[in-house]
Amino acid sequence: MRFDILTIFPGALDGLFSVGVIGQARAAGAIEIECHDLRDYTDDPHRVVDDRPYGGGAGMVMKVEPFVRAIEAIRGRVGGHVRTVLLSPQGRLFRQADAARWAALDGLILLCGRYEGVDERVLAFVDEEVSIGDYVLTGGEVAAAAIVEATARMTPGVVGRFDSVESDSFYDAPRLGAPQYTRPPEFRGLTVPEVLLSGDHAKIEGWREREAWKKTAKNRPDLLGMRPEAGERDDG
Ligand code: 6GU
Repeated sequence: MRFDILTIFPGALDGLFSVGVIGQARAAGAIEIECHDLRDYTDDPHRVVDDRPYGGGAGMVMKVEPFVRAIEAIRGRVGGHVRTVLLSPQGRLFRQADAARWAALDGLILLCGRYEGVDERVLAFVDEEVSIGDYVLTGGEVAAAAIVEATARMTPGVVGRFDSVESDSFYDAPRLGAPQYTRPPEFRGLTVPEVLLSGDHAKIEGWREREAWKKTAKNRPDLLGMRPEAGERDDG
């Protein structure tokens, strides 16, 4: 599986993609990640990637030509099943199911917008437009990092133990993970639940199951089709 990221800050994600599970998966050849400088696909001496919006208004809009040239160049190099995705706050929400679906591809091309937006005609050259949440980032780079991580760890051979992926929140049931503890058994009067020290695996599984649902009901009642509790709603 390979990831091609189009951005005006190609060095921004180098650190993140060099460490941990993702860094190891790259070193082992399970995934490839390449960040491309969008300015390399301009054709003017100033390498301009943005321009003023038709109709007026604040800010600048990213031009259509560099994105389309870059998509076509990458598509010409990368064979197999490839999807092209525009990252923008106007997209539909990215979810675990998208990560699972994209992990089966040969390649994913991620387009990072900046400034006030991207020329709408770019959409004619992409397969999907996604957002990572209901807040505005200054650009798509952080969203691209989130999507690469979520998708890469669903790719076979990236996370060593696949049971670790299967036990993830959201993998099959829409609920959060159970609370976890490690040593010491007591810290400043805070103890570890007795059941986890019992060695009774059936009892531990039952406890984890119940705690996961309790946590989901408290923090993400929407996942259970429930309304948030009064006082925990964001409208107060
Ligand atoms: Cl994909 N881009 C930007 N600029 N802001 C976002 C986003 C993406 N997802 C949530 N907010």
